[in-house]
Amino acid sequence: MDGRARAERRFEERFGRRPPILVRAPGRVNLIGEHTDYNDGFVLPLALPCATWIAAEPADATDLESEDFGVASSVDATQPEGWARYVAAVRSVLLDGDVPWHPVRGTVTTDIPHGASLSSSAALEVALLLVQAALRGERPVPEEVARLAQVAEHRAVGLPSGIMDQLISARATVGAAQLIDCRTLDGVDHPLPDDVTVVVLDTMTRRELAESEYARRRAACERVAAAAGVDALRDLTLAGLAALDDLDPVDRRRARHVIEENQRTLDAAAAMDRGDSAELGRLMDASHESLRDLYEVSGPALDAMVEASRASVGCLGARMTGGGFAGCTVALVRTASTGDFAEEVADRFVAGGGETPRVIDGTPSAGASIERPS
Ligand code: GLA
Repeated sequence: MDGRARAERRFEERFGRRPPILVRAPGRVNLIGEHTDYNDGFVLPLALPCATWIAAEPADATDLESEDFGVASSVDATQPEGWARYVAAVRSVLLDGDVPWHPVRGTVTTDIPHGASLSSSAALEVALLLVQAALRGERPVPEEVARLAQVAEHRAVGLPSGIMDQLISARATVGAAQLIDCRTLDGVDHPLPDDVTVVVLDTMTRRELAESEYARRRAACERVAAAAGVDALRDLTLAGLAALDDLDPVDRRRARHVIEENQRTLDAAAAMDRGDSAELGRLMDASHESLRDLYEVSGPALDAMVEASRASVGCLGARMTGGGFAGCTVALVRTASTGDFAEEVADRFVAGGGETPRVIDGTPSAGASIERPS
């Protein structure tokens, strides 16, 4: 049973009627443009078919139950526990903006694997904001939803993340990846070329301490931007970087990744428009190398899955996706070769000592929506 059907059924079991409100917010995979969003740069993500669903109705007090994590209690406590943190964070972000929090009861289900770098937390934040918009009788504005959800993420997790995950979950278009300018939030859809399929592979590895590394990377980028006298690394060129004398060599490598990754992302979008899948794949490969060697956010399982993918005929490119260290990779595969691809890669990955990977459908899907309950 899919997430939608499970949400509706659980709601009915708990409350004895059909839910009046139903929302959906998808997970995402990023094709290219990694660790560029918080540098005001460019990203090229797409929304996945897997999503988080909330079936809900107005209530006197908030009472939300997650299929995976149970009831979110005390969402107005100062230090809520477990997944109630996300609900509490969304509530406080709305209240800070003088938007009321409407108490709500309902059920949450998801088909997005947790902790796999597919933005399950962004999807939850976006879904909660859509429920609140539905309760206010408003049409959600994706950019506003994304900004609020990003602040909620900072509060809930303490992670100084960029806006990519929340924005693509809120605003994606079926069939396309979206080139997002993370400074202006402008987005341009780039349809996936006809001859290729996106396959997402979950290494089944998870990493607890990725947050502190993420914050360190972001701080390094900000140091270089400050040394160069620019607002963000988006504004620095390779020549400008080379002209900075007193830079820590590690910081220099981090900045070089960001500057080159921004260009690769723009080039990837242009390649998609030309239907040049081979070039898109090549850029994805180069992105992985850079994340591994210059930005140092890959990991053994991610590298192994990328290698296992590239060894398959028909794989045009493969890379880690999301924050890094563990979780998922993304591969661009000729559609004619997808039949055997996942099985071959899984066999190779397992032969190399990995756990049996989960294969996730990478078909570009629609952004979040308030649905008509069935
Ligand atoms: C995480 C963050 C995003 C982005 C990616 C890396 O997914 O939430 O904002 O920075 O890492 O590209």
